[in-house]
Amino acid sequence: DLMPREFPAGTAVEPLLAPQHLAGLRVLVRARGTREPLEPVRFLGNRSSGKQGHAIADEAAARGAKVTIVTTAGRPVAAGVEALAVETAAEMEQAVLSRSDAADVVVMAAAVADFRPAVRHDQKIKKAGGTPEIVLEPTPDILAGLGRRKRPGQTLVGFAAETEDLRANAGAKLAAKGADLIVANDVSAPSVGFEHDTNQVLIMSGSGIERDIPLSDKRAVARAVLDAVVSSRATHPPDLLPNDNHPGSDT
Ligand code: CTP
Repeated sequence: DLMPREFPAGTAVEPLLAPQHLAGLRVLVRARGTREPLEPVRFLGNRSSGKQGHAIADEAAARGAKVTIVTTAGRPVAAGVEALAVETAAEMEQAVLSRSDAADVVVMAAAVADFRPAVRHDQKIKKAGGTPEIVLEPTPDILAGLGRRKRPGQTLVGFAAETEDLRANAGAKLAAKGADLIVANDVSAPSVGFEHDTNQVLIMSGSGIERDIPLSDKRAVARAVLDAVVSSRATHPPDLLPNDNHPGSDT
């Protein structure tokens, strides 16, 4: 019969036949750009709206995963999704690290600031003091840090926002950050990425599989990303330990 068969979560199956569900898995998603304060009024930010990350969290929850989202967006989340609100890259790193060891799948959407003001002033900077010179310092690369501490059975998904040489730049990030999958978008293209409701991405896997997702709404892109996660886990059967063998799964 041609009806799709239900496999228990974590069973290695032929990828094309695999049910694309995530029941029993812990999924950690990070969403939206960070804000790095300069003083009480002003911050350094970016245009990431969090829509793609939130769509992935909602879709993962709909597929039965236990989902935590670390976000700077005041967006509502689907029922059952745990939301941790953060603002800066440092807070985001702390929140992500508090949940990442227990996570089976980590999806690092969110445009984390690469630089923050080196000094955070307690008071508003006044015009009368003249034009200020703002010194920046680097923030920790959270994805690369997770790549270094990745344990067997964990699937790490990075994003790449590019304005040129999409495939080459994204491929380099995949390797450099130790991710299993990278979701790359050309954010300079019309209707793609930041603030839009639609996205167009190239999904690349460490094992060399690529999939082009044409311009689609962000929920459809979320489905494609999670399908790629399921396929990636299905093609690495030794990684698929039962959930209770994972460190931290009792938290
Ligand atoms: N990332 C991160 N922590 C940072 C910077 C980036 O975790 N401090 C993650 C992003 O969330 C994304 C991936 O790394 O999943 C790639 O981010 P991107 O901004 O595209 O690249 P960068 O690492 O900033 O590299 P570049 O400046 O060369 O574009």
